[in-house]
Amino acid sequence: MLCGETQGRKTDTRICQVRFIYLAPQITHMAIVAPSLLAANFLRLEEECKMLNESEADWFHLDVMDGRFVPNISYGPMIIEFIRKTTRKPCDVHLMILEPEKFAEEFKKAGADHVTVHIEACPNLHRNIQQIKSLGMQAGVAINPHTPVTSLIDVLQDIDIVLLMSVNPGYGAQKFIPHSLSKIRELRKLIDNWNLPVLIEVDGGVTLENAKDIVAAGADVLVAGNTVFQSKDPKATISQLRSIETAKTL
Ligand code: DX5
Ligand code: ZN
Repeated sequence: MLCGETQGRKTDTRICQVRFIYLAPQITHMAIVAPSLLAANFLRLEEECKMLNESEADWFHLDVMDGRFVPNISYGPMIIEFIRKTTRKPCDVHLMILEPEKFAEEFKKAGADHVTVHIEACPNLHRNIQQIKSLGMQAGVAINPHTPVTSLIDVLQDIDIVLLMSVNPGYGAQKFIPHSLSKIRELRKLIDNWNLPVLIEVDGGVTLENAKDIVAAGADVLVAGNTVFQSKDPKATISQLRSIETAKTL
């Protein structure tokens, strides 16, 4: 039996059975590491910033709490302005506050590169995003553990970062909520289906033990407070978090 004829030449099926093995291209996915200074020793803030600068940390994660949206108060633009002076790394400001529109300009002046607001705190979320972008900063939207990923659908194309809370916001050193992994996967699918350049940042309870699963689920950015600052060797811990990678087939 013949499988083809080219310019009068007949080809034997056995020749046609030569198979090409197609190797799908892979991209490696490495975590961006954003240590949260909430867990730093504020009496030695300058040294802590120096340590982060000398480390492989990618961003400084700065948690602002107002005692209203969350049951805790942390620090505001004044402290961020000081931190900004110590570093050239991007300052990733996570606003756990009501009415963030009242402070966006102040955070810009303090030197924020990214400003993330909570969907639960913003009845006019799209306006908040426009404001942050018009000030020349990257815009992030954070969702709490009870907020579904689908609530982001109508703003996903307008933002740079989704911050997925894997603990309830307000405090460091809490335990990672396991259900967050399926939320990360769901969000990854949405972002990839629409081919959007949005980063998934996971915040709360990230440890050296669970970081691999978090990255494998699709996270781009790992926020880590206590895991970094309570570590015996914070720089080595940052390097370990940063070297976590997953291969993704295109
Ligand atoms: C919690 C903050 C987190 C916190 C994370 O509300 O948004 O950024 O600092 O701390 P760890 O990594 O210790 O859970
Ligand atoms: Zn945070």
